[in-house]
Amino acid sequence: IQAEAIQKIEQVGELKELQDIKVAYLGKKGSLTGVLRGMGKLSKEERPVIGEIANKVRESITEAINLKSEKLERAALEKQLEKEAIDVTLPGRPVKVGGPHLLTKIVEEIEDLFIGMGFEVREGPEVETDYFNFEALNLPKGHPARDMQDTFYITNELLLRTHTSPVQARTMNEFDGGKPVKMICPGKVYRRDTDDATHSHQFTQIEGLYVDKNVRMSDLKGILDTFAKKMFGEEREIRLRPSFFPFTEPSVEMDISCKVCNGEGCSVCKGSGWIEILGAGMVHPNVLKMAGYDPEEYTGFAFGMGPERIAMLKYGVNDIRQFYTNDIRFLKQYHNA
Ligand code: PHE
Repeated sequence: IQAEAIQKIEQVGELKELQDIKVAYLGKKGSLTGVLRGMGKLSKEERPVIGEIANKVRESITEAINLKSEKLERAALEKQLEKEAIDVTLPGRPVKVGGPHLLTKIVEEIEDLFIGMGFEVREGPEVETDYFNFEALNLPKGHPARDMQDTFYITNELLLRTHTSPVQARTMNEFDGGKPVKMICPGKVYRRDTDDATHSHQFTQIEGLYVDKNVRMSDLKGILDTFAKKMFGEEREIRLRPSFFPFTEPSVEMDISCKVCNGEGCSVCKGSGWIEILGAGMVHPNVLKMAGYDPEEYTGFAFGMGPERIAMLKYGVNDIRQFYTNDIRFLKQYHNA
């Protein structure tokens, strides 16, 4: 029995067959089990001798089965591993990573700067009413200064906002003369302009408004000076020139110096050495009144700038259309800016 069983075990190629052999020899009806069952018929002297032999046979068959089963399992595992092998030495495929748009970065940078000075960020609708875009800002219907901002009208009363100032009017209205306002409003604006290197029918603005008791022009100057130095470098200076906006009085335009001095002397950029970057002024009493603030009690300043212009000056971009045509070669240059 032993020799026959061992030979069969050796020949087996699959785990299932091995199981069948186990049953055939060691199972309840197996041939070795039959021998052990027949023990009762043997004489007293024969019993221990045959018993010992039978047990040894069982042990060796069991051992042979176990060994073989281990061998088969290992072989199966190896086969599987081989099939599923991964070549870790193959170079990987590079994953293309995008980055924020230059304009997004500039807007966030400006936001961070003003948040750091206590301003809150607010947003408003791009489709605006004539009232908030113009009238609430001291620009009644028919006012000649409306010509400063060529407008896309949707209906007589609805238009695409030409600046983000309406968000300021909305905020003051919401507060209803009751509390100070210190906010900036970034967003898209629209003007009926023909696109060229310096004009775009759609662009972005960030405007700011600070209304409280005793807000003075010198506060405006201080905030703008801090902004210019943080944005363009500590060596920059600012200059305020008189200007006109219907919603501010007095109104100014701010230039930053492009005169940069170091240990070896000063270098001056072309032209006058100053470059205009934003408009600002003290909020017109009419604007305060219309929003429910008492101009005898409250004063405020407002300013507005175009992030495209800031980005163009800071990074030497010479065509505003670059921001919108989305040429990946242009955009990529500023991923780590
Ligand atoms: N709203 C003005 C514009 O779009 C900018 C501005 C804002 C000027 C606030 C003064 C004060 O041109």
